[in-house]
Amino acid sequence: MIGPAWTLFDRVAADYDGVLPFFADFGRAIVDAVDPPAGCRFLDLGAGRGALTGPALARGCRVTAVDAAPAMCTRLRADHPGAEVHVMDAQALDLPAGGYDVVAASFVIHVLDDPAAGVAEAYRVLAPGGRFAFTGGSARGGTGPDLPAPSLGTRMDALFMEFATHLPPGGSMGRPVDAADLLAEAGFVDLREDHAAVAVTVADNGTLWRWILTHGYRAFVEDLPADRRAEFRQRVLALPTDDRVLRRVTPVWSGRKPA
Ligand SMILES: C[S@@+](CC[C@H](N)C(=O)[O-])C[C@H]1O[C@@H](n2cnc3c(N)ncnc32)[C@H](O)[C@@H]1O
Repeated sequence: MIGPAWTLFDRVAADYDGVLPFFADFGRAIVDAVDPPAGCRFLDLGAGRGALTGPALARGCRVTAVDAAPAMCTRLRADHPGAEVHVMDAQALDLPAGGYDVVAASFVIHVLDDPAAGVAEAYRVLAPGGRFAFTGGSARGGTGPDLPAPSLGTRMDALFMEFATHLPPGGSMGRPVDAADLLAEAGFVDLREDHAAVAVTVADNGTLWRWILTHGYRAFVEDLPADRRAEFRQRVLALPTDDRVLRRVTPVWSGRKPA
């Protein structure tokens, strides 16, 4: 994609998480995994529409939410008046060192130009003993004995993998990250991997297609050559309809800043 990732999110901000409550559901599960105490100073890095901000406020945290996309921040301020909101680059925070007890970033670090810079900034703004948690770069379709196989999630993953071969070099958004290396290199200790899961009902394949266009998957679609893009849309619309629940599991990686 052309330009930094936040430019795409700025374009889709109005519809982000509006077709399906995918990130909001994930956000609740991620905040439950991080378990920030009431009253703590909580920084939501790359907050989007507030998937973490909302649940953190509901727990009584004092929330600062930053995002590089101005259109996201406009909506964050309107939807979450209890949070302090700033348009800000997660890789160069204009925030004081040591000012937060918990820093969290859901589905952000892997879309940064420099993921290590974002993790280093999280470290800098945390108070000694504070914890940084993040997701992204490895969310995968849930599997297990209770799930139909193939499921909606695994079918979608297979379609994305098939069409990824048509992307130009460096196309699409995000990259896999090695969470343990990123955290350790920034100085974090006591590393943990928890998990968060969602199961979102998708009414029909038209809804699935509209949802794909409202978040990072849109970069994938836009980066396909035009003929392949049309074919990809047809294939999404033609996916089998026997499983209507999109299940995803993400690791929630975290580390503590030494006291
Ligand atoms: C996939 S969305 C996740 C949003 C939210 N955390 C959630 O879980 O719904 C990625 C977010 O990161 C923001 N973002 C991308 N690059 C950024 C940067 N350099 N600094 C701050 N935010 C950034 C985007 O604008 C977008 O809102």
